[in-house]
Amino acid sequence: MESIQNVYKAELSDKDFGTLSNIITRETGIKMPIAKKVMLQARLKRRLTALKLFSFAEYTKFVLSPEGFSTELIHMIDAVSTNKTDFFREPVHFELLREVVLPRFLEHSSGQLFRVWSAGCSSGEEPYNIAMVIDDFLKGRSQIDYYVRASDISTAILRMAINAVYTEQRVLPVPKYMLHKYFMRSKDSNKKLFKVVPEIRNKVQFSRINFMDDTFKVPERFDVIFCRNVLIYFDRPTQKMVVSKLLRHLKPGGYLFIGHSESLIDMNLPLTGVRPTVFRKNKEE
Ligand SMILES: C[S@@+](CC[C@H](N)C(=O)[O-])C[C@H]1O[C@@H](n2cnc3c(N)ncnc32)[C@H](O)[C@@H]1O
Repeated sequence: MESIQNVYKAELSDKDFGTLSNIITRETGIKMPIAKKVMLQARLKRRLTALKLFSFAEYTKFVLSPEGFSTELIHMIDAVSTNKTDFFREPVHFELLREVVLPRFLEHSSGQLFRVWSAGCSSGEEPYNIAMVIDDFLKGRSQIDYYVRASDISTAILRMAINAVYTEQRVLPVPKYMLHKYFMRSKDSNKKLFKVVPEIRNKVQFSRINFMDDTFKVPERFDVIFCRNVLIYFDRPTQKMVVSKLLRHLKPGGYLFIGHSESLIDMNLPLTGVRPTVFRKNKEE
């Protein structure tokens, strides 16, 4: 009888990598060059253990079966997605939100909701951060209300985001006054955990959205869309396809924020640059 220990010795062949990586790219858009083989092998070993399979050949066969495809795809996606994020990541975006976008909205609005979408929100730092900056800007001004839609493809990361609990290390970039205002400290002082306060959590609505879906189940149009450090995992045609779909949900004059290592150059999209990674959607003709 093969022992579960053998899973640790299991190796992913180039052929099985080819099969699995094609499925991943087709279903998520995420590029999977051969250089990612070691990473995929390491991350999928947990799945072999969970399924009591002893080789990647068996795993690949399972994924290709109708039952395996419907149940395992979600786990494969959780295993391959890169969820690196931070509070106040790329802080100039939050400055622009506070100093330009929100004052302009306040000036022109007559009591509408300010709607923001954090698309590819990972473990929640970005959408909670957006909500905190808006709340802090409004300082109890009741002229406008707001909400943040937050979405990701990975169900595992969405569970963490909804939980809204962060370690002391994770909240280091948060200014002290915001930490006091927007986080509750764990009662057990040994734990050093911080939970986002209900007033902020209630403003953020999470859902699972895959950018590869033909249409996003998002009924509203937004004033601002953050889609940062997600496009980088896709090839250029997929990037353009994703941004075009996101733009259907952005109001004319609305803002799109992308990550600092991403670019929309030569994509011929109805956008005008405001900063290198910040754009406004052109008014419709
Ligand atoms: C590196 S994180 C970026 C998080 C945050 N936006 C930031 O800038 O800190 C990228 C996120 O994109 C998500 N993602 C990858 N492919 C996706 C897809 N096809 N649809 C939706 N989200 C996707 C991943 O699950 C991951 O959480």
